[in-house]
Amino acid sequence: MEVLFSEISKLIGTQNEVKFGAEMKELGVINNAYMLVKDGIIAEIGEGLPDNIPSNHVKLNGAEVLPGFIDSHTHLVFAKPRYNEFVLKIKGATYEQIAASGGGILNSAKALQETPEDKLFEDAKLRVKSMIAAGTTAIEIKSGYGLTLDAELKMLRVVKKLKEYFPIIIKSTFLGAHAIPAEYKDNTDNYVDLVINEMLPQVAKDALADHIDVFCDTGFFTPEQTDKILKEALKYNLPAKIHGNELGLTGGVQVAVANEAWSVDHLEHLGPEEIACLKKGFTKEYGGTMPVALPGTSYFLRIPYSDARAIIDNNLPLVLATDFNPGSSPVHSLQTISALACIYMRILPEEVFHAITINAARALRMEKIIGSLSVGKRADFLVMKNKESLYSMPYYLGQNQVSRVFVEGLEIK
Ligand code: NIG
Ligand code: FE
Repeated sequence: MEVLFSEISKLIGTQNEVKFGAEMKELGVINNAYMLVKDGIIAEIGEGLPDNIPSNHVKLNGAEVLPGFIDSHTHLVFAKPRYNEFVLKIKGATYEQIAASGGGILNSAKALQETPEDKLFEDAKLRVKSMIAAGTTAIEIKSGYGLTLDAELKMLRVVKKLKEYFPIIIKSTFLGAHAIPAEYKDNTDNYVDLVINEMLPQVAKDALADHIDVFCDTGFFTPEQTDKILKEALKYNLPAKIHGNELGLTGGVQVAVANEAWSVDHLEHLGPEEIACLKKGFTKEYGGTMPVALPGTSYFLRIPYSDARAIIDNNLPLVLATDFNPGSSPVHSLQTISALACIYMRILPEEVFHAITINAARALRMEKIIGSLSVGKRADFLVMKNKESLYSMPYYLGQNQVSRVFVEGLEIK
């Protein structure tokens, strides 16, 4: 099927390549544009109108059009919110204190273990719907609130069902090494062995994951344990996406880069050695481990924001994601993330735009398929409510600036 979209005041995000450093503020824009979509793929873009007008013709009345946003880091399958911890944190408790007293991720794991798969699926479905309404058209979802073989598989089956249910791209990540269950507190290596010897083979056998993740941080998993898990995962062809440097300078970046992880996420603690290590990772064209900052977490936990400015100013490609989860970032909208990144990280709206589109696509190694509005890519795009939408999103905090969402050229209602 062929559909023409015309009367687009600005078609933004036409450049196909990952954006490094200073390039991140250079927008690819076509004014007074049209976009021709054939069988869900962008077939032609240009100014005015094409030579042949197909019978399916959608006039967008001067709206701006952007590529769908890509959220490369979420934990959106969970059993319930953690309001009690929210209040404890208001009163002064830290994330680490709550985790050390058996709350935090372990709290979510207990609830998830007790929740039926269908209920998890129905709740997750509603969350994905809200994310699509906010402009997100590709999502990575992690396990990690199971922490037993059965519960991890249950979570990943929920993600599989979400993949089948929604027309958007969904990718799954096995995060069995998300926290240490209480019974392994004094012998964490035994839990690592469980992840490696029991969980990983079954996850791979059932083809339930596209990537592996480990929470490499103080009080969670060490770089050595992380390294061991990543090397095992590679035997099953699972590339790494790592939680690193949220709680300290803990070697997360180094272990991620050494294992050629696709991304290292969080980076609230980022020193010159980590920056140098990330840069060293980018030796080949587009090679390297993408740095992913998660400002929702800094906001919600009241911890330092990642020095994302330093990432860009060191000529690296920045990615931003929500980290949507019940413990550290109950934020589902990349528009909200754009506001936090502009205000607290001093990232320009144009830079934010690339950090949630083409660069985010690269964090999932999908930049050839999504992340920009260019010929040959999936027609996943957003029709915006306001002109100057890149500015309106961070400016009007919490207001949805997306009016219509299209996936493979079809509107999602
Ligand atoms: O990315 N840091 C580790 N994992 C999540 C938080 C999970 C939780 O607290 O439930 C994160 O912030
Ligand atoms: Fe996370």
